[in-house]
Amino acid sequence: MDLTVTLKGQRRDLTLKNPVLTASGTFGSGLEFAPYGDLAALGGIVVKGLSLRPRQGNAQPRIVETTAGMLNAVGLQNDGVESFLAFKLPHLPWRETAIIANLYATSPEEFRELAARLNSEPGVAALEVNVSCPNVAAGGALFGQDPKLAAAVTRAVREGAPDKHVMVKLSPNVTDIALMARSVEDAGADSISCINTLLGMAVDLPRRRPALANIVGGLSG
Ligand SMILES: Cc1cc2nc3c(=O)[nH]c(=O)nc-3n(C[C@H](O)[C@H](O)[C@H](O)COP(=O)(O)O)c2cc1C
Repeated sequence: MDLTVTLKGQRRDLTLKNPVLTASGTFGSGLEFAPYGDLAALGGIVVKGLSLRPRQGNAQPRIVETTAGMLNAVGLQNDGVESFLAFKLPHLPWRETAIIANLYATSPEEFRELAARLNSEPGVAALEVNVSCPNVAAGGALFGQDPKLAAAVTRAVREGAPDKHVMVKLSPNVTDIALMARSVEDAGADSISCINTLLGMAVDLPRRRPALANIVGGLSG
C-alpha cells in the first residue's frame, strides 16, 4: 500500500514514504534505536535538537514522571552540529528515509548560520526549527511566544537554507497558536509542527522543593 505523504511547502515540498515521524528528543539521533527495529521503515527521523556548539544541558534531576505524563528539562544537551554531521548522519539511513534536523539557537543570526551549515548536506531532508523549548534560558519558547521574533527566526532559517523544507515547531504555551502559525507562514515557513511540550512543574512534597533542578519543565506524553 502506498502511504506516501507530501507536505506542500511555499518553497520546498517534503515527501515522506509514510506519515510516521519520531518526535525530536525522544529518539536520540536515531542510531540508539537501530537495535530495536528498522529505522528505514520510518517516514522520517527528527533528530535531537542541534546547536552550533556542544551544549551540556541543565543540571540533574531533569526528568520526572508525573501522574499526567512526563516532565523534562534536559536543556537541549547535544554534541553540536559538526559532531552530528561527522559521526551520526553518515550512519543513519538517509537515502531510505527523511532525516529532519531539529535546530536550536539563541538568536536569528545564529539560526541563519546553523541553517546555512545544513543547507548543502544531502543527508538532511528538512529542518525543524525549535522556537518552543521551555527549558532553556535564552531563545527557546521566548521566540515561539512572540510572533515577531518567531517570524525573524523563520526568515533567518529560510535565508540560510534556501534549498531545504523549513518546518517551524510551535509552542502550545501561547494564547493564540493560530497567530503564531500565520506569522511563521508569512515569514516563509513551509510547514509547522505541533506541538512542543507544555510548561509545567512538579513538587517533591517530602522535600518541599520543585522535583526538577530547573524548577519548571515541559510536560509530554
Ligand atoms: C526528553 C525530551 C526531549 C525533547 N527534546 C526536544 C528537542 O531537542 N527539540 C524539540 O523541538 N523538541 C523536543 N522535545 C519535544 C518533543 O519533540 C515533543 O514535541 C513533545 O514531547 C510533545 O509531544 P508528546 O506529548 O507527544 O510527547 C523533547 C521531548 C522530550 C520528552
